[in-house]
Amino acid sequence: MSATANGSLTITLDGSNKSSKLPLIQGTLGPAVADIRKIYNDLGIFTFDPGYGATASCESKITYIDGDEGVLLYRGYPIEQLAEKSTFLEVAYLLLNGELPTTAESKDFEDGVLRHTMLHEQLRTFYNGFRRDAHPMAVMCGVVGALSAFYHDSLDITNPEHRRISAFRLIAKVPTIAAWAHKYNIGQPFMYPQNNLGYAENFLYMFNAVPAEPYHVNPILARAMDLIMILHADHEQNASTSTVRLAGSTGANPFACIAAGIASLWGPSHGGANEAVLHMLGEIGHVKNIPTFLEQVKDKNSKVKLMGFGHRVYKNYDPRAKIMQATCHQVLRELGIKDDPLLDLAIELEKIALNDRYFVDRKLYPNVDFYSGIILKAMGFPLSMFTALFAVARTVGWISQWQEMIEDPEQRIGRPRQIYTGAAKRDYVPLAQRG
Ligand code: SDX
Repeated sequence: MSATANGSLTITLDGSNKSSKLPLIQGTLGPAVADIRKIYNDLGIFTFDPGYGATASCESKITYIDGDEGVLLYRGYPIEQLAEKSTFLEVAYLLLNGELPTTAESKDFEDGVLRHTMLHEQLRTFYNGFRRDAHPMAVMCGVVGALSAFYHDSLDITNPEHRRISAFRLIAKVPTIAAWAHKYNIGQPFMYPQNNLGYAENFLYMFNAVPAEPYHVNPILARAMDLIMILHADHEQNASTSTVRLAGSTGANPFACIAAGIASLWGPSHGGANEAVLHMLGEIGHVKNIPTFLEQVKDKNSKVKLMGFGHRVYKNYDPRAKIMQATCHQVLRELGIKDDPLLDLAIELEKIALNDRYFVDRKLYPNVDFYSGIILKAMGFPLSMFTALFAVARTVGWISQWQEMIEDPEQRIGRPRQIYTGAAKRDYVPLAQRG
């Protein structure tokens, strides 16, 4: 379905006889949008929306979020149902193609992904350029970007076959790249992907196995990893997806665009929040310190944020956080961790914050990052790997959004304007006259 006309919005410039009649457009779900493309020609003015809080940058059919109701749909399917009944690769097919796959389509897609899990041997030596303590996200940015140098045969973004093969290569290789970043950090040999394993299972194998002995992935942990990847796969026009779209709008190749998305995701306000939540819980240290910490958060001058809380769109509980909390208990039980002080602290922190006017009035609820770090830590991942795991899962969302943009007949290079408040035009002053 495409957007449909839904009346118009007329804007009149006070003190002039100028007005602009802007079409209102309605999507399948969500608020109507005013198409402001002709406002500059009609009224000679721009619109101003720092952070794009009220601006639709594109038309998309991939993901829908109702922030007030805490709803998240991938191609119309509720995240709760996909988390319970689907798998990451099936969700990847859905995001890329718009429909759930048939049995034959599913097998073809999984075979396609599994055929591309290995990296070019030259990329192994690429890792040696990093310090051993390089942050995995620095490695992900570098190695994913470097993939552009290995596939000169398929960088024509106007060629659907090149776009398809690039999508398979990126989805298939990011788990290998991330697992190898960890192995490089700890000085262990890289483990090659085993294509008889599932997607999440293969990642856990490459992350944990060593050549010296066989390694069997715990199926409960593999399922938990697969679920965590489903929850992180896509999320509408978030900062990193918008980065990928903006880079892609220039015609840059998909490997460079995904590397740009990884860089954007790294920030602590975005995908870096899962790592920041664990640092925050470590600093709080004990339940008795929560009130003092929250007073610090409420003091704007402290610049301290309650990490894992708040969201630009969700003004209700992030549905992914609810599923993540339930998975937390399941994973800890499976690992025989009776009580995890970090989880106990997080649950108490959430309970206190959700009863505190400051957070309630600002509609600040736990987001996807609040519990994910606790699960990942319990599964043995170092904090520095948390955002890299987010990037592995989000790659299919970025690729789906990039593909949709490239195939959009109305897409053009992204080029925002500005409100200029710098110096008016002035003449150069020679040094001798400047004192
Ligand atoms: C992700 O966009 C996406 O979809 C992202 C994501 C995805 O899947 O791609 O969902 C993943 O990035 C989740 C968010 C992870 N980040 C964090 O957990 C970091 C902590 N959260 C904040 O930095 C913040 O909430 C943001 C960045 C997430 C949202 O920033 P906004 O939109 O600028 O926040 P807001 O407008 O809702 O803030 C309203 C008020 C402000 O105070 P006032 O000026 O009204 O007094 O709430 C305050 C903010 O200062 N506030 C917080 C807060 N978040 C907002 N105060 C304390 N702690 C916080 N976490």
